[in-house]
Amino acid sequence: MPTNALDRLTIRRPDDWHVHLRDGSMLDSVVNHTARQFARAIVMPNLVPPVTTVAAAESYRGRIMAALDPTLDFTPLMTCYLTDDADPEEIERGYASGNFTACKLYPANATTNSSHGVTDIANIRTVLATMERIGMPLLVHGEVTDPEIDIFDREAVFIDRVLTGLISDFPALKVVFEHITTADAVAFVEAGGDTLAATVTPHHLDFNRNAIFVGGIRPHFYCLPVAKRETHRLALRKAATSGSPKFFLGTDSAPHPLGDKETACGCAGIFNAPYAIESYARTFEAEDALDKLEGFAAEHGPNFYGLPLNDGQITLERSPATVPETLAAGETTLVPFHAGETLAWQISETTQNA
Ligand code: NCD
Ligand code: ZN
Repeated sequence: MPTNALDRLTIRRPDDWHVHLRDGSMLDSVVNHTARQFARAIVMPNLVPPVTTVAAAESYRGRIMAALDPTLDFTPLMTCYLTDDADPEEIERGYASGNFTACKLYPANATTNSSHGVTDIANIRTVLATMERIGMPLLVHGEVTDPEIDIFDREAVFIDRVLTGLISDFPALKVVFEHITTADAVAFVEAGGDTLAATVTPHHLDFNRNAIFVGGIRPHFYCLPVAKRETHRLALRKAATSGSPKFFLGTDSAPHPLGDKETACGCAGIFNAPYAIESYARTFEAEDALDKLEGFAAEHGPNFYGLPLNDGQITLERSPATVPETLAAGETTLVPFHAGETLAWQISETTQNA
């Protein structure tokens, strides 16, 4: 149980069930922001080329560990990027050995670095049947890519066109509907069985689509799935703070150099790793649900994945922190989520897992 004495909140160490750590110098610049906040993280495989084999995942894990501040206690959980010709045996082998924790399904061309994604679920039926049999979670980027479908409807249409059928064909498959953005997704997950859950980002809890257009175009509020209207944000806040074990923390922190955001065709992605737990704490406090933060951040995720809970703790203290306007990342610059804002809570203490 968290101790909550108004100005101090001690909870089990949280995990991030969806993060983009990138590679090369960007990895060096961002990984410790995540490792300072979280004990474990599900690392997205959308590198160029994508992580599709055990060997590629192990080599990537090695680069993550090499970039890590050795004083931080952090475990990356690696994922396999599904393509049309994903190999069920490789995936089963990787899961059995602990090299892969989950597989990620990107519909082809849905988002950043997803050109190798799956063009039709029919192409990966053997893989899904294998994952269902061995209990390996499927992490879904839930948006259709049909350009005829309005961008704000792509998640809701994905539920009808893809997810409903997928779940009825593979009823025992563990499915995480990633970074949900709509009331439709909340209702769908709530109505589903124990094998269906969802991650919710700090940013989709924090702003609606208006933020992308305040007085001009605001590229640092652009991500995929794109933020929706206010009714949807309110549904996400209610779900995340409800205490339901079906909703858990996944930041979708997705750094892009400033120049790739502030340009004529800017990249999708919000870099929220440096102040993620502080951002969630603000949402939970505003919803009068700080007592539900520990479940969302540190218990529902591992319980769904079938992994042990962390036994270390973090303490959040009410003490204002102003988020920098920019952060240096090698030769480039990142604009963090909440840049220039003052957040009420800060991490004051972390105890490591035993
Ligand atoms: C992610 C990225 O940049 O890798 N971008 C994003 O807006 N979330 C990809 C993704 O998760 O969709
Ligand atoms: Zn993502």
